[in-house]
Amino acid sequence: MATSNILPEALPSSTVLFLLALGYIYFLVWEFGETKKIPPNAKLVKVPCFSRWAVVPARSQYYADIVRAPDKYLSSVEAANEFWQAELTLHTDEIGDNIQIPVIVNTLNKSLGSLVPLVHDEAVLAFEEAFPLDREDEEGSQDGWKSFTISRPIMSIVGRVSNKILVGLPLCRNAEYINANIDFAVQVVVMSHILLAVPTFIRNFVNKLVSPIPKRVKQITAFTQPLIDERKEQEERLGEGYEKPFDFLSWLMDAARKYNKPDRDIILRMMAVNFASIHTTSLTFTNALLTLLAHPQYIEPIREECERCVREEGWTKSAIDKMVFLDSFMKESQRVDVVAAILSNRLAVSDFTLQISSDGDTDSSEGVFIPKGTMLAGNYLDAHFAKEAWSGEDPDTFNPYRFMKIQKETGRQWNIATTSPNFLTFGHGRHACPGRYLAAQEMKLMMAYSVIKYDMKLPGAEKTPQRPKNMWIGNHCVADPRVKVLLRRRPGSIVS
Ligand code: HEM
Repeated sequence: MATSNILPEALPSSTVLFLLALGYIYFLVWEFGETKKIPPNAKLVKVPCFSRWAVVPARSQYYADIVRAPDKYLSSVEAANEFWQAELTLHTDEIGDNIQIPVIVNTLNKSLGSLVPLVHDEAVLAFEEAFPLDREDEEGSQDGWKSFTISRPIMSIVGRVSNKILVGLPLCRNAEYINANIDFAVQVVVMSHILLAVPTFIRNFVNKLVSPIPKRVKQITAFTQPLIDERKEQEERLGEGYEKPFDFLSWLMDAARKYNKPDRDIILRMMAVNFASIHTTSLTFTNALLTLLAHPQYIEPIREECERCVREEGWTKSAIDKMVFLDSFMKESQRVDVVAAILSNRLAVSDFTLQISSDGDTDSSEGVFIPKGTMLAGNYLDAHFAKEAWSGEDPDTFNPYRFMKIQKETGRQWNIATTSPNFLTFGHGRHACPGRYLAAQEMKLMMAYSVIKYDMKLPGAEKTPQRPKNMWIGNHCVADPRVKVLLRRRPGSIVS
């Protein structure tokens, strides 16, 4: 087993380094243009990010070695603390023990069968409100078609259906509460970038000076605290006869009681879960919708499958699970419509020698020295588009049958929630997204509902439909918030 010392000292974060990193990119472009190649034997590569270098695997399979490393060497919590400045933005100094994660894994995920019909009931109302087809808007309507900017309405729908599960009725229908959670996520992203751009020693001071987050916590507390108080009061009054609401807040209150946590703790964890859920699910769904409308030939087969499954099983988890073409389509959209170039970070919290297996053969592994302070991450673009990963099926071509075919040929399960070193939308390994099963059910249900309920098209679709381009913001890739879609109610659909 060889050990190489190829990584220089990890660099601390500061604005100066960001500018240096920018300069470095320009230098690379200027000197090497497109001909710059990674040496064939490189295991890890350093790339400049917003405030520091990140180290990513040169080949996607090596990411499996990174996520296999114990947390005491490569920490996802410490990576989030730096990446999101999470102690100051998400209060991980108070809730960093992440006791909400076992609640997601052990209770929420196991309750999906009962939760899916609730998601459907809420989606029906949420779609009606977000896309009011019977009311005239300033653009009017033609042949029943109406144009909508979809980004914010989709966020409202996702916020509402997610919160049906998180806090239940009536709070999930409170637009002010949902908007507060949507805006909180944006504030976390903005504040983390502001804090990363200033030197470490003045971050606390800058945070106190400019952060809107304390006000946001106060606002969300004003909605959530009365609910917690009411539930506690009822439980005390009714004793054995108290029927706990079937939602995440109840389960989190149980966990908080077990670990003796105050109410503020519950509220911060609810905010953290909303942060993790709403934008991710909205963006991934929006991507799939735009990709579908850019390939309208797949609308009818998906619609036919969804109608058949709902006719057979109702709006249930069994119906959603049976929608295998929709699953494959949405997974292919996730593969192609990457959410980031580099994500799913791990911070080296002590010096560490990472064992990199050569082509999966751990006997001939090579040790690479990782100095404390190095930020490692997944290389999404390489993972999702590497030629060797997709067994002869051109990874640059959108193929909605790809995952059905792989599943059929290999017998290996490859559904929308499956992760691999070559499929990183939900990360991979022990810290892969625990909410992905819920997100998958929500997104498939929303897509099934959309194709059954509406005719949909992109503006100008009569010519060749062009998928609106996504926007790169640093390492992240998001749908253009200005994108519009035309909708028309479908007559005679089976949807009530
Ligand atoms: C399409 C929607 C979603 C996407 C694309 C997504 C993506 C991700 C990614 C990339 C990670 C980091 C994984 C890693 O570092 O290896 C993650 C972590 C996480 N996600 Fe999601 N997520 C989604 C929905 C959700 C939902 C609905 C929830 C909650 C119900 C959730 C809760 C979490 C939590 C708690 C973590 C941290 C896990 C840990 O540190 O062990 N996510 N997610």
